[in-house]
Amino acid sequence: MLGNRESLSKNVHFIGVFDPKIRIFDIIMKTANGSSYNSYLVRGSEGVAIMDTVKKEFSSDFFVRLEALCKYEEIKYIVLHHLEPDHSGALIELMSKAPYAKLIISGRAVMMLKGLVKTDIAFEVASTGKTISLGDKTIEFLSTPFLHWPDTMSSYLHEEKILFSGDVFGSHYYDERLYDDEVGDFSYAFKYYYDHIMRPFKHYVLEALKLYAKFEINTIAPLHGPILRSNPQFYIDKYAKWSSEAKFRKHQFGKKMVSVFYMSSYDNTQKMAQKVMQGADKVEGVVASMYDLASLDEQNMIDLLEESDAIIVGSPTINGDAVKPAWDLLSCMAYLESSGKIGAAFGSYGWTGEAPEMLHDRMRWLKFRLPVKPLKIKLIPTEDELMDCVAFGQEVAEITMGKMVEMEI
Ligand SMILES: Cc1cc2nc3c(=O)[nH]c(=O)nc-3n(C[C@H](O)[C@H](O)[C@H](O)COP(=O)(O)O)c2cc1C
Ligand SMILES: [Fe+2]
Ligand SMILES: [Fe+2]
Repeated sequence: MLGNRESLSKNVHFIGVFDPKIRIFDIIMKTANGSSYNSYLVRGSEGVAIMDTVKKEFSSDFFVRLEALCKYEEIKYIVLHHLEPDHSGALIELMSKAPYAKLIISGRAVMMLKGLVKTDIAFEVASTGKTISLGDKTIEFLSTPFLHWPDTMSSYLHEEKILFSGDVFGSHYYDERLYDDEVGDFSYAFKYYYDHIMRPFKHYVLEALKLYAKFEINTIAPLHGPILRSNPQFYIDKYAKWSSEAKFRKHQFGKKMVSVFYMSSYDNTQKMAQKVMQGADKVEGVVASMYDLASLDEQNMIDLLEESDAIIVGSPTINGDAVKPAWDLLSCMAYLESSGKIGAAFGSYGWTGEAPEMLHDRMRWLKFRLPVKPLKIKLIPTEDELMDCVAFGQEVAEITMGKMVEMEI
């Protein structure tokens, strides 16, 4: 059965491997359904192309599948859409076995290749529009950077209308039935993968979709999980929707979001937060909101951060540090685009008061724009100090609405 299944068409075959036992991928992703490292073999009248390899530990399975379908001398091209070790792990061994193979990588992959394979190897660079020929088969390259690493690219096999999408449209979902219309319900894995790998790069997703739209696509062959052949447009539409969603909601309001996140043990930082929000709320065009970090879970944090144009974080100083939920909040930026967001920090303290500056520094590393100095107040804020908090919130909100000031970044 599997023999037939592994053929996407007469000339295109799955030669990937399965990793049913993996439970955590790249530290950040839980993979309850295991995963696969997909690789494909394309046969043309004048040779064979191998589209990506697999994780090193699984190379022997990969070579068994490959050898069943072609001789190493027939391999004309090895295409690496993405250099991450889950796809480049068998590259060096494959190149040593395939004497006539030319390696094709993207322009942005050039800087990374040596660091990953630790040896000098010859390669050719592909950018959008470049094609390679296998006689009766033509593969066209598309530059789709940052999906998932800067080096990622995609390619399109004209004669078969297959898009080799790299990590785009992937799922960590192990199922040897291979095709979206035959595997179990992988909708959760598909969305989870998008949220963790693609969501920080929504603009790049939309750019990639524009490139894909030029082609009629019968099948999407991603690097992980099911091959999407039943209705590729369904998955493309999902990516388009998820990548435009937040902007759309904001446009509906036609306003800028200023969000104040805080945590407080004796209500001191809480009182500050209240006034910071009041200050922000005075500004026309701003929706000001405040959230107690104690009651937000990670998904709320990610959603709220994504919607917010300005993020103001308040934490008391506890044992020389900001509180853990404040760090947790900022760590969620790993899943989001941070460039362009405005940041600010504040908090009450007893004697050393490091927390607001530490949060401010962290936001600088996360590429927030930081127009105001951190605001710290000793213990219980006075009426005058509360007025300072109002001014602080108002200033951040006015800058969010476009008031020109010198930014730290
Ligand atoms: C366990 C504990 C540790 C603290 N450690 C620090 C500290 O290292 N430096 C400091 O400036 N204040 C420290 N403080 C004082 C708090 O920052 C101060 O009481 C602050 O006003 C609390 O604000 P909140 O009511 O918003 O929680 C500590 C307080 C507690 C309860
Ligand atoms: Fe990747
Ligand atoms: Fe991958």
